[in-house]
Amino acid sequence: MISQVVIIDDEKELTDMYVRSLRQLGATDIVAFNDTREFLKDSDKIDPAIILLDMNMPHQNGEEILEIISQSFPQSSVVMMIEKNETESAVRCLQKGAVSFVVKPVEKDAFAEVILRALEVYKRYSSELQIPSTGRIEHNSFFSNIITCNSKMLEIFRYLNFVSESTFPVLITGETGTGKELFAEAVHKASGQKGSYVAVNISGLDDNMFTDTLFGHTKGAFTGAEKPRRGLVAEAENGTLFLDEIGDLNESAQIKLLRLLQEKVYMPLGTDRNVKANVRIIAATSVNLKNNVKAGKFRKDLLFRISTHCITIPPLRDRKDDIELLALNFYNKALLESGCLMSAALPQGIGDILRNYSFPGNVRQLQAIMNDLAMVTRGRKLNSRDMISFMRRHDINPRTGTKENLSEPFYYAGDFPTIKKMESILISSALNHSKGNITDAAKILGITRQTLHKLLKNLDKTNN
Ligand SMILES: Nc1ncnc2c1ncn2[C@@H]1O[C@H](COP(=O)(O)OP(=O)(O)OP(=O)(O)O)[C@@H](O)[C@H]1O
Ligand SMILES: [Mg+2]
Repeated sequence: MISQVVIIDDEKELTDMYVRSLRQLGATDIVAFNDTREFLKDSDKIDPAIILLDMNMPHQNGEEILEIISQSFPQSSVVMMIEKNETESAVRCLQKGAVSFVVKPVEKDAFAEVILRALEVYKRYSSELQIPSTGRIEHNSFFSNIITCNSKMLEIFRYLNFVSESTFPVLITGETGTGKELFAEAVHKASGQKGSYVAVNISGLDDNMFTDTLFGHTKGAFTGAEKPRRGLVAEAENGTLFLDEIGDLNESAQIKLLRLLQEKVYMPLGTDRNVKANVRIIAATSVNLKNNVKAGKFRKDLLFRISTHCITIPPLRDRKDDIELLALNFYNKALLESGCLMSAALPQGIGDILRNYSFPGNVRQLQAIMNDLAMVTRGRKLNSRDMISFMRRHDINPRTGTKENLSEPFYYAGDFPTIKKMESILISSALNHSKGNITDAAKILGITRQTLHKLLKNLDKTNN
């Protein structure tokens, strides 16, 4: 092990023990701090691959130090050293980007496994980051909740570092479960705005509900409006209003939103007076808004307005280097939350199986898979077989990562069939199902009766 390991722990005896164990693992470059103030003073002199960080320390606790570390040393793998009663803060630290945890009193084998795994994460991470010669990259700790080592994602961070403080809207697009909401929150934090972050999902809101929710109403504005209501725009004053599922916004609500963006005013229900608004809008969608514009469902001028700054989060299958990192984090978090204090490493085979899979539900789906596996394997080591049986339970072929019933509906003993051959098999099978009825067979095949007639004629010709 040639990389530097930094220990931050106020207990000298424990530090000495970690140093001994690390030496046995081959580490030669070890720096220890028994006081967080020393660490902060000398942090420009170190270049850690792994940081062992004690949770409970005087002056500043591990969680606070982690925030500083994620800004100064984003490439380092942080391992939290925790007591049995500190699992809640440990979960928060994993959420903030720590890669793993070790529960005290430290067990030798578990310690070795966690350190070696942390080193692997560091190696993968630092090769992706292309760290400049200073050993630092510009990384905003506001993004530390977003776990990634993928270069496209880091490119997005860099872009957001530039535009977060702008007052113009940000549009976040990406498939379901890619982390759009996480990004919206991070942009708000990075913006430095004093006001609150207010999120609203606007799918399913009709024009009235949209106006009432965002702009509020006066007393007596409509039957049942017994009290005045402050809208979310007012709540997000000097802050951020996050509009989720913006693609579902109906036509008249689109006009009202456009007005809010252009003129920075809105009208609560029951008044005819404009209220001034100072709010930053972030919108998210998993649909293609350009297609919606073409289909006449979304205003072109509104699309221009809301996408002054725009990011597209890549689907998980296009950033396979993130899969293991996220899987390990989710798995450890689920173990901790369930009260199991044994941090885990993912065996090699599991990464291969996961990387093959297409993850239509993206990170959310990976999280659900790891939560499920954590429950199944509580108290023992996770192995590839657990992963394979999980995939089988969900009809996924672990070798190809594809849905078995969709991708391979047919099994053939002989040569792979041609399209022509498949066509004739499909047609005769449909005719079998419909007991020879052409109209029903056409329906099963999803084509018109006339097309089926034509295909049957062609088949006859080739067979004769
Ligand atoms: N890079 C990431 N690091 C850690 N957690 C993540 C990451 N990306 C997504 N998640 C987690 O995955 C889940 C889904 O993320 P989120 O709700 O932000 O997705 P979304 O893109 O808004 O999805 P949808 O379009 O369905 O609303 C959340 O629990 C979130 O915390
Ligand atoms: Mg969302």
